[in-house]
Amino acid sequence: MNDFELTRTLDEHAAERALREDVLHGLTRFPKVLPPKWFYDARGSELFEEITRLPEYYPTRAEREILLERAQEIAAVTGARTLVELGSGSSEKTRHLIEALPALEAYVPVDVSESALTGAAHALLAEHPRLRVHALLADFTKPLLLPDTPAPRLVVFLGGTIGNLLPPERAVFLKAVRAMLSPGDALLMGTDLVKEGSVLVAAYDDAQGVTAEFNRNVLAVIDRELDADFRPADFDHVAVWNREEEWIEMRLRARSELAVKIRALDLVVPFEAGEEILTEVSAKFRRQGVQEELAAAGLELAQWWTDAAGRFALSLSVAGGSGREAPAEASGRVSGAA
Ligand code: AVJ
Repeated sequence: MNDFELTRTLDEHAAERALREDVLHGLTRFPKVLPPKWFYDARGSELFEEITRLPEYYPTRAEREILLERAQEIAAVTGARTLVELGSGSSEKTRHLIEALPALEAYVPVDVSESALTGAAHALLAEHPRLRVHALLADFTKPLLLPDTPAPRLVVFLGGTIGNLLPPERAVFLKAVRAMLSPGDALLMGTDLVKEGSVLVAAYDDAQGVTAEFNRNVLAVIDRELDADFRPADFDHVAVWNREEEWIEMRLRARSELAVKIRALDLVVPFEAGEEILTEVSAKFRRQGVQEELAAAGLELAQWWTDAAGRFALSLSVAGGSGREAPAEASGRVSGAA
């Protein structure tokens, strides 16, 4: 008998209210901004899956390489009986981990897309009929109440999605994750790494134009949900490597002067020719920075693994307070009186 449960912490009205607030706030300020979470309607999720298969978009393949190589080690270090996945999407990469965790009893995927959650759960249960799947329809940047499943828990946050948060948001997020962990629980996080700008720009501005279509899709979402009249073709896709901040910026640039009606907000948004909307920041990391951000949230880096080409990293941190402390050689802690 399959065991599947879904807890909704988001109702449609809350989602629509959040979209209205984000659009009103983001398009009436200068420079204009939209949060990246609104890319992911059914079409946007499909386009993102297509991005992960592009020759230029290496992060998904690099992360899968590390997961395949390190799954046994992750299983041995964590002994996880519950796997919590923040932003689970299609749960595709997680399958390797699920197969490698011998003590696993429960899988808790957390995502804002109900179709992604139910689709992934059914596929997983077909292969693992004894697994309890307790899906949470939730925004992982908001406080989460996890179901009561067996310890130890392994929380995974893959794909480099932490990079879509700005540094202060990351600090808040990592503290909230730390608060979800009990002694002996662990966090496995994927981060894309700083590298040559041309490689990064190509990954976010592919030759086939899939990323451009993904970027413009946010305008189609606003048109549909808020009765607006953006014409996505009026905007150019722009990807810029910001080397001071060490992040990629995706922007939409108005090709001409425009006035866009957003009826549900009773708003007309003016654009000058060439004016841009910042639609996504995708930060790239270095080991030192990841270690410091984890430490600031009370998490100690225990393992740092990269793919053979050094493009992407997985970091494993274990919550202290029990016998499952980070290995001494990775802890860098100085003992003695202050
Ligand atoms: C995997 C969601 C983090 O920032 O690389 C891909 C999203 N944006 N191409 C990333 C994305 C443009 C992606 N995340």
